[in-house]
Amino acid sequence: MHNQPFRYSDGRLHCDGIALSAIAAQVGTPVYVYSLRRVLDNFHRIAAAFTGAHIHYSAKANGNLALLQLLTYAGAGMDCVSAGEIYRALLAGAAPENIVFAGVGKTPHELYYALEQNIGWFNVENARECELIDRMAGVAGKRARIALRFNPGVTANTHPHIATGHGGAKFGLTEAAIRALLDHAADLPNLDFAGLHVHIGSQLHDTTATVAAVRAARDLAQAYPSITTIDIGGGLPVPYSADEALPDIEQFAADILPLLAGYEVILEPGRAIIADAGVLLTRVIYRKAQGGVEFVIVDAGMNDLMRPALYDAHHDIIPLHQRADAPLERVQIVGPVCETTDVFARDRELPHVEPDDALAILTAGAYGMVMASQYNARPRPAEVAVAPNGESWYVVRRRETWQDLVAHELSL
Ligand code: LLP
Repeated sequence: MHNQPFRYSDGRLHCDGIALSAIAAQVGTPVYVYSLRRVLDNFHRIAAAFTGAHIHYSAKANGNLALLQLLTYAGAGMDCVSAGEIYRALLAGAAPENIVFAGVGKTPHELYYALEQNIGWFNVENARECELIDRMAGVAGKRARIALRFNPGVTANTHPHIATGHGGAKFGLTEAAIRALLDHAADLPNLDFAGLHVHIGSQLHDTTATVAAVRAARDLAQAYPSITTIDIGGGLPVPYSADEALPDIEQFAADILPLLAGYEVILEPGRAIIADAGVLLTRVIYRKAQGGVEFVIVDAGMNDLMRPALYDAHHDIIPLHQRADAPLERVQIVGPVCETTDVFARDRELPHVEPDDALAILTAGAYGMVMASQYNARPRPAEVAVAPNGESWYVVRRRETWQDLVAHELSL
């Protein structure tokens, strides 16, 4: 039912109708490649499962302007976590009223910009932030629509680095803090307290904790008639390998939507829209056998895709050319960066590859390029989008140059 964009045809890995080797040859490696068809399919699938909900793409997962533009035209709103992301979203054509602005530490400058732009929602998780927005809105003669972010004290079943809804996390407000704000809403006359926001983590492995969190948010909302919207955040999971069993989008919708009857619902998916629409192409530079390990050294590093180094995350890695005669071997796939954690895969079975062979690191569309850095003075990779027709492709971000590396520096 779900049409994978990355498939072999005649032994060559394709993104929809385009042979990835052609992109690697013309643009070089490392390069991110995105299937716009898959992005649209993912978005429409989520919109269909969560009928009636407002889908705000979480731009932090991948903020490339071409993707933001595509999703805006497709009808998505945006979930932004900085003034910079709002700037990007507006540049891509997002309507200000379809932008939610979230974040645990928004600065006065960022809040001012967001107010000036008339963005749709402020997701707020600090009483002092409410006072600040109220004051600024008063001076500007505007009203600000607020969704208070609730920390339900629920521990999500996911990697601890991406769980946010438990007690002790920096995120959200306790029930008592939310009640204190809502019970004294009249003290902040320029704010409309119209929503509650709850997001307990990313890559959620089951629906149980989310159901508990959403139910708690709804129960809290019921005491306050001004609350008409519940924003359930992101977190829809994506399998990173074929044997990873995870609830699908339809399951999340079936378990959550019935709890929210009578409320407007906002959803902030990032990963579920872009992760499996993207790959990172890299080329083998060398091999080295040492200490009982067969190393495959590639030209992408942890600076280009840091998920494996940061979360020990698994990404499937496959060759661009399928060779029937290539024996399988157990290798460690590493990058060139001067860090021991610059490892994409340990003890991984891979058909034999030689220098100059190209590999695709799969499911790399989300939290890949956005988390890339120039560490080791490595220019960040190019990004390519394959058009929804599957037959043409564009460079949507050029590869950085050495000049880009020093562009912001001033010499003595
Ligand atoms: N809404 C809020 C308030 C969030 O904090 C996040 C993600 C999202 C929505 C989008 O979540 P998604 O649908 O993508 O799970 N760098 C990590 C993930 C960090 C997620 C941060 N917040 C990774 O590579 O796994």
